[in-house]
Amino acid sequence: MRTWSTHVIDPSDEAALRQHWEVGQEAERSRPYEMYWSWDACLAGARHPRTESTSTFISAHDDQGGMVGAGQVLLPMADNLSASYGEVFVLPSHRRRGVGRTVLDALEAYARHHDRRTMAIEAYVPTSGPPTALDFARATGYESALEEEVKTLELRAHQADWDALAAHAAAGHRDYHIETFLDRVPDEALPGYSRLRTAFSADVPVGDLEMQAQTWTPERVREREERHARICRSVVTTVARDATGALVGLSEIGVDTATPWRAEQSGTLVLPEHRGHRLGLALKIANQRALLEAHPTCTTVFTDNAGDNAAMNAINEQVGFRTVERLVVVQKHL
Ligand SMILES: CC(C)(COP(=O)(O)OP(=O)(O)OC[C@H]1O[C@@H](n2cnc3c(N)ncnc32)[C@H](O)[C@@H]1OP(=O)(O)O)[C@@H](O)C(=O)NCCC(=O)NCCS
Repeated sequence: MRTWSTHVIDPSDEAALRQHWEVGQEAERSRPYEMYWSWDACLAGARHPRTESTSTFISAHDDQGGMVGAGQVLLPMADNLSASYGEVFVLPSHRRRGVGRTVLDALEAYARHHDRRTMAIEAYVPTSGPPTALDFARATGYESALEEEVKTLELRAHQADWDALAAHAAAGHRDYHIETFLDRVPDEALPGYSRLRTAFSADVPVGDLEMQAQTWTPERVREREERHARICRSVVTTVARDATGALVGLSEIGVDTATPWRAEQSGTLVLPEHRGHRLGLALKIANQRALLEAHPTCTTVFTDNAGDNAAMNAINEQVGFRTVERLVVVQKHL
């Protein structure tokens, strides 16, 4: 079989980074929506590294030096110190020639060198058609650890339902109060918000993934907000407070301002002792309204959640999300 050379990209080499981004974008074109991150976000992310994790970009080249494969390996640095997360992309014109395997070998070698025990990769699989990513993952020694559904919501098509859904939800929680923050959690809410994020991390279904809960301190929250500001990421957060004013639930949506048409739902959590009051539905509706106010050109929200997360799936169905893809998180013990 032909051999391909691999290189670790210097993040300050903008031309190489751009090529790497283009390979990834081209490789992802067959997905049902344009979901690849924007060039602006990629460049800003490379210029403003995180402290809670490191990202390393690796490229694969043919014998003329052309870049045909691209990979990224992320190492958590604040927790999950034995885990690593990979991404592999190969130009459609160069598939089934061992490029993907070569990139993945380089990512795994890098992770092993940094004492990581596991690598997890997100494999996106069409609802119909060949499961290429999963076939590749299995052929390279990965096993399915978590199955999720990727869903989209066309905001304007469902906006007319929001008043009725919000009224239905409000009838279930008269003693609670819903409020929204844009991009920055107010100082007064910071301790409660940090506790909620920590609780979310402990509660989100992770299947067979070797993943420990994250601890979110107020400092870590502020650091994330500062980074978001530098990488043009806007976050709309809606929280629920109980009668004492304590934060008991949250829902968040992020927008890369270079691609304002699409938004990504991240966590939604209601603390266990406050469940059953339709707070989850109320949080989502209020957050979608706030999203459209802050980003009126946004058309589509993306989310993914475990197929067996009955509570979240029921809410997503009421809100109008529909499944567009499957996401299988695969894992290998290195
Ligand atoms: C998945 C992807 C990276 C594979 O890249 P590639 O260079 O074609 O993969 P390789 O040639 O190294 O394939 C290694 C093995 O994976 C399996 N495989 C790869 N593509 C396959 C396909 N389309 N159908 C069935 N098996 C496949 C085969 O077993 C293959 O070995 P073989 O060719 O000797 O039979 C590429 O299709 C891609 O970029 N897809 C979009 C992004 C993506 O899904 N990334 C992977 C997430 S897990």
